[in-house]
Amino acid sequence: MKRIGILTSGGDAPGMNACIRAVVRTAMTYGIETLGIRRGYFGLINGDMAVLDRQSLTNILPRGGTILETTRCPEFTTVEGRAKAIKVLEGAGITGLVLLGGDGTFHGGTLLANESDVSIIGVPTTIDNDVYGTDYTVGFDTAVNTAIEAIDRIRDTAMSHERLFFVEVMGHHTGFIALESDVAGGAEEMIIPEVTTSNDVLWSRLQTSFDNGKKSAIVVVAEGDRPGHTFAIALEAKDKLKIESRVCILGHVQRGGSPTARDRILASNLGSAAIQALMDGKKGCMVGEVKREIVYTELADTWGKKKELYPRLVELAGILSA
Ligand code: F6P
Repeated sequence: MKRIGILTSGGDAPGMNACIRAVVRTAMTYGIETLGIRRGYFGLINGDMAVLDRQSLTNILPRGGTILETTRCPEFTTVEGRAKAIKVLEGAGITGLVLLGGDGTFHGGTLLANESDVSIIGVPTTIDNDVYGTDYTVGFDTAVNTAIEAIDRIRDTAMSHERLFFVEVMGHHTGFIALESDVAGGAEEMIIPEVTTSNDVLWSRLQTSFDNGKKSAIVVVAEGDRPGHTFAIALEAKDKLKIESRVCILGHVQRGGSPTARDRILASNLGSAAIQALMDGKKGCMVGEVKREIVYTELADTWGKKKELYPRLVELAGILSA
């Protein structure tokens, strides 16, 4: 293998740049040239790429976002779109392709792997942590740290005003960010898609807390597939609990910022492992880290199989909020 491509796709995640650096530097040790494909699958279809040399990696390790930029590309979901991408890859002499992204990226990657001879390796980079085949995805740790920093700040003002706060966090249709933010931020309650709690039960638990002397509370709410739905929940709370409440939607703040040490290390480890996987002749799979071991998961399983929340943590969230 002489020349590979790398692209970042879907939502950006802190640590993507650290991962790009690890991929390019490891590839160099094998004498492989890396082409950086800009703007995800959109750039692939349109042949928007340039060689990543040592200079292009200068100081990117601590930077959030992605130097390659990213898009969500509807054209890549079509056979015609992917045929264009395959032509570009063949024309550029790219025989290996590293994909940095989440479940949507790997869905596209699975189809591309089935339709071309290019060796494709995925690296899980999404703040959502909702990819099967790895304990953690690159970017998740930073997003959770950003969320708990916000929750700590909100706690100050919630206590000062004796208010109930609803903090909505990202996570698409999963509660990974919400669960860890709840436990690490000491929230009183959480609302996540994986656990069904009726609002009436939630109101009665909060009422009991207030009756026991609490003067303020924080409820972490996972955005689910309806970002902003927390406003309706807060309106109902006002009606049922007769306490002043406020909503804080953390939104894209969680996607930016310099990656934490954990994310830099995970990104570096998995980026380098992606090249080693190519050298070992692997293709159509994702490199992940499970219990500190590098594991390979078929791309189709990364989005086709469901990653479960850590059950002990779900239980702990209930115990500690009481
Ligand atoms: O997948 C990452 C993520 O940040 C989700 O948590 C969120 O639902 C979505 O992307 C937001 O996407 P966009 O940036 O396109 O609004």
